[in-house]
Amino acid sequence: MRKTTYVLLAAALFCGTALIQSCSEENEDEMEFIADNSTFAGFEDWSLDYQAEGADPALAAMAHGGNDSTVTRRVYYKDGQNPVNGQYPTGTVIVKHSTSPAGLDEVTAMVKRGGDFNSANNGWEWFMLMPDGSIAEMEGMPARGSDLMNGLCGGCHAGANNDFVFSKS
Ligand code: HEC
Repeated sequence: MRKTTYVLLAAALFCGTALIQSCSEENEDEMEFIADNSTFAGFEDWSLDYQAEGADPALAAMAHGGNDSTVTRRVYYKDGQNPVNGQYPTGTVIVKHSTSPAGLDEVTAMVKRGGDFNSANNGWEWFMLMPDGSIAEMEGMPARGSDLMNGLCGGCHAGANNDFVFSKS
């Protein structure tokens, strides 16, 4: 009796593993990376790949404290991600933190979600975060999506040299 149970268990485990493997192989191309709060936890310890101070005309007045001469903008790439053949891979996570002595504390993020998501923005999803890295809420909804702020994020980032990313190419 005990032996039978053991054999059945082993068989179930094996089949389960085989199933998971074949699933992920088949769907690898279409698989989406869907971020949650844990995705951004501890972003200030990631690779700080870009830092800029002061106003920047590329930001216009409304974005990232763009017309504020006292602002500091830091961009963190999770795992120091680099583009591969000009494209950031699915699962790329980039966080930008804009701060100023007057109290600006704005955290935004972009995540290469991939799959069929937001093909107009090459698979990127846009986020507003809380200072602790959790996803902010706007009008009771998570502040995330393909056309966050009526497409403002994607619209401006479409002008970047490389795959909607300004600060690293
Ligand atoms: C008017 C243009 C503009 C708008 C609108 C804008 N951004 Fe940006 N963003 C930039 C520029 C320019 C940079 C490069 C870093 C810098 O100089 O501050 C940047 C950098 C970033 C970065 C770091 C990766 C990179 O491209 O360098 C993230 C993440 C980001 N923005 C998210 C957002 C999100 C989310 C929104 C919408 C809520 C948004 N941005 C709206 C211009 C814009």
